[in-house]
Amino acid sequence: MTRALPLLAVFSLVACKTAETPAPAKPAPVEAPRPVEAPPAPVPPPEPKIELAAAPALPRVPAGLSEIAAPADNPTTAEKAELGWKLFYDKRASKDGSMACAQCHELARAFTTQNPVDTKVGGAMNKRNSPTVLNLGFHPSYYWDGRMPTLEAVANAAWKGQLGADPVATAKALNEVPVYTAMFERAFGEPATADNVPRAFAAFFRTLNNGNSAWDRAQAKEKSAMSAEAVEGFKLFNAKGCVTCHVPPLFTNFEFENVGLGDDPGRKDATKADADQGKFKVPSLRNVALTAPYFHDGQTKTLEEAIAFMAKGGNKNPNLSAKLKPQKLSSKEAKALKAFLESLTGESTYITEPTLP
Ligand code: HEC
Ligand code: HEC
Repeated sequence: MTRALPLLAVFSLVACKTAETPAPAKPAPVEAPRPVEAPPAPVPPPEPKIELAAAPALPRVPAGLSEIAAPADNPTTAEKAELGWKLFYDKRASKDGSMACAQCHELARAFTTQNPVDTKVGGAMNKRNSPTVLNLGFHPSYYWDGRMPTLEAVANAAWKGQLGADPVATAKALNEVPVYTAMFERAFGEPATADNVPRAFAAFFRTLNNGNSAWDRAQAKEKSAMSAEAVEGFKLFNAKGCVTCHVPPLFTNFEFENVGLGDDPGRKDATKADADQGKFKVPSLRNVALTAPYFHDGQTKTLEEAIAFMAKGGNKNPNLSAKLKPQKLSSKEAKALKAFLESLTGESTYITEPTLP
């Protein structure tokens, strides 16, 4: 019986092929009366067809942000974004089924964690703080040191590095979930592969945005969107030079600067240039009230301390950024700066976790 099955499969394939070939038009032969036919041989049941619900429409870019361009070889579609969203929450995307991306990029913490550093699959410790993955479509480079040039590349690196994925084997494991295979087929015209899993993550990230904060609404002339204290804080943010590096609307200029924290080589890891020792990508300050602890190594617990550190001009070292000038800050001013930073907490395009297949 087990032996016969493959044969049957081959037979039905051949039968299919023949059925598709158009027969030359011929006059129908006159049929002679025939004896009663034996019942037809049982046809093998067709593969169960998976009916996928339509992918949710692509979320709109929140107020205050511009549209995000996707590369020509990975256009953003609703089907890809939905797939990347689900995979981001699914432990089955990891080497051993033990961890999902979302474990270090938590929805409630603006896609960061409460830990200074987090443990990867396999037990190795990260040396840098898990950053937010909101608004990544606007970044020209990725990771604290900017060593990754595209969202596809960084998603691939995170998949392997954080979740321990062996891309070929893990894609194969994902295809053991028939709904995933169907979703990949629909999004990419093929099952899950080492190449299209990172593309699905990247497409999801291009739709994972956060805006419409009180600050954005105030910019759009909505009166009383920000408190008077927060408005004062924004003035100080400009007056004290914070805006030199934390440039609106994302409150980063995406450059690499040394503020004198720790002994991590930072940008030098990517460029090998001594001049880049201790430089890190200026982090976006959107949602910064939700992303404690702070800085590339998560060494600072509160927003007050982070503001105070930046205002004092960082830590002296040979490579300290010339753009970071020590500022006098009264306690009232420090409070106002904090109120302003809190007004940068916005609305995300994804506010729930997905149902997994
Ligand atoms: C164990 C914790 C952990 C897990 C799990 C994790 N990440 Fe991260 N993620 C990090 C850390 C730490 C960094 C910063 C690394 C660095 O800068 O060197 C990061 C950075 C990123 C960045 C770059 C953000 C930026 O601002 O440049 C992206 C994109 C990202 N992760 C995507 C993912 C995806 C996709 C997954 C799942 C496949 C994932 N992460 C799983 C900890 C994690
Ligand atoms: C020279 C450019 C520069 C200037 C000026 C600057 N910052 Fe920063 N800021 C950075 C960099 C770079 C980091 C990340 C440093 C690190 O992690 O090692 C950072 C980090 C921060 C953080 C922590 C964010 C996080 O997610 O960890 C806060 C808060 C902050 N800055 C606020 C301010 C304030 C307030 C001012 C003005 C008083 C200011 N910055 C001025 C470059 C700058």
